[in-house]
Amino acid sequence: MKRIKIAEILRTEPVGTEVTVKGWVKAFRNNQFIALNDGSTSNNLQVVVDFENTDEQTLSRIKFGAAVSATGTLIESQGKGQKVEVKANSVEILGDCNPDEFPLQPKRQTLEFLRENAHLRFRTNTFAAVFRTRHALAYAIHKFFNDRGFYYIHTPVITASDAEGAGEMFRVTTLDLDKLPRTESGEIDFSKDFFGRSTNLTVSGQLEGELAATALGEIYTFGPTFRAENSNTTRHLAEFWMIEPEMAFYDLQDNMQLAEDMLKYVIRYALEYCADDLKILEERLIEEEKSKPQDQRSEMTLTEKLRFVMENEFVRLTYTEAIDILKNSTPNKKGKFQFPVEGWGTDLQSEHERFLVEKHFKKPVILTNYPAAIKAFYMRQDDPKEGVPGPTVSAMDILFPGIGEIVGGSQREERYDRLVNRMQEMHIPEQELSWYLDTRRFGSCPHAGFGLGFERLILFVTGMTNIRDVIAFPRYPGSAEF
Ligand code: 4AD
Ligand code: MG
Repeated sequence: MKRIKIAEILRTEPVGTEVTVKGWVKAFRNNQFIALNDGSTSNNLQVVVDFENTDEQTLSRIKFGAAVSATGTLIESQGKGQKVEVKANSVEILGDCNPDEFPLQPKRQTLEFLRENAHLRFRTNTFAAVFRTRHALAYAIHKFFNDRGFYYIHTPVITASDAEGAGEMFRVTTLDLDKLPRTESGEIDFSKDFFGRSTNLTVSGQLEGELAATALGEIYTFGPTFRAENSNTTRHLAEFWMIEPEMAFYDLQDNMQLAEDMLKYVIRYALEYCADDLKILEERLIEEEKSKPQDQRSEMTLTEKLRFVMENEFVRLTYTEAIDILKNSTPNKKGKFQFPVEGWGTDLQSEHERFLVEKHFKKPVILTNYPAAIKAFYMRQDDPKEGVPGPTVSAMDILFPGIGEIVGGSQREERYDRLVNRMQEMHIPEQELSWYLDTRRFGSCPHAGFGLGFERLILFVTGMTNIRDVIAFPRYPGSAEF
């Protein structure tokens, strides 16, 4: 008999037909009722075992976590909670699961415990819901861009450049670390290395993306990105996935609009196609919030929050305007910020971003025109503006409730001389990026792009609170297990 997936059975309800289902036992009650799940949906299928005609040995092996195959007739269910069930005439154990040894238990377990057992956490309802939603969001992103005529470009994972100029890179080498070759002046001789030069894992596909955009028009990347920043937070990973669209002939306004449209599109997609999983995740969040003091609980449920973001315009303001708000804010005046906002020019911390979004505007916020000094070399330099103390660039960051920065982007500096000047000021070696500068030498054009942190998007949509719980095998300082 051909196996039918549980999602299909629940969708089509082919009552009266003979079916074979396979999955893992979520519960076994009264020596008779198996709640079976095969991952195709968050919903379990009830399999009713004919216990009088099933041998004791098999019955005793139907345990939480065991893999089983059952064949029988699909009938309308007499019991509450499900419309159909399988009246099984045979049950076969595919893989035993000894409850004394299986680390998972059929009860709520802490996320910390599950993180330590990340190789098994797919088996829990919460993580299955997270990873189905993650998949749907990835698909929605591809669909959004494909429907708008963007091309998906694969940028290299191993590079010789530092796209962000922040020096937070993982080195890639085949040199023997115990016997490093040295040059005459005593430095490591990377000409002896695999690529004949020093290389690292990419921190961003943007620079290569710009090469493609200035020929193909509108492109995006979607790949793994690596940052050796020592940030032990609930929003940072050393290995994360980033979506980076890059568009010729877009200015900052066009860029912001695209980002806002994209975020709303994928949130709408999740609400439409991940309803069952979002329900599980919403209930999980309600449980989690019960352990918090009343004033720290969110006013909206997960789906209310998603709808709210989808239905409201994001607030747009400049960095300079934001600094004024923050300087005069109650937490700043009362010394409640860990990093007091002293004045124009300081980088915003996540507590400041979250104040703007969660307390002041109560909406997603797009901040623009940041000081040049705190942003990357490739951002377009703004004309001086009255009331703005120093030079700014056409940057934009999108800030989300509970997350802080979810998107970072800018219009790019397309003017060759300006770009080279900025690189010199920031000590970025020109000869290493000569290929990048060529876009500005030959047919340069205004263009813009941004980066969306995929895991931060999943955090927001699933209502999970730690980024390590939305990627299957998280990499962070001190941890690269599995
Ligand atoms: O702001 P970032 O560093 O910008 C760039 O890399 C640009 N090259 C993007 C572009 O314009 N094409 O990173 C972009 C986004 C952030 O807004 C954040 O969502 C996410 O990537 N991100 C991280 N996510 C998880 N862990 C980290 N360590 C992250 N660093 C950045
Ligand atoms: Mg950023």
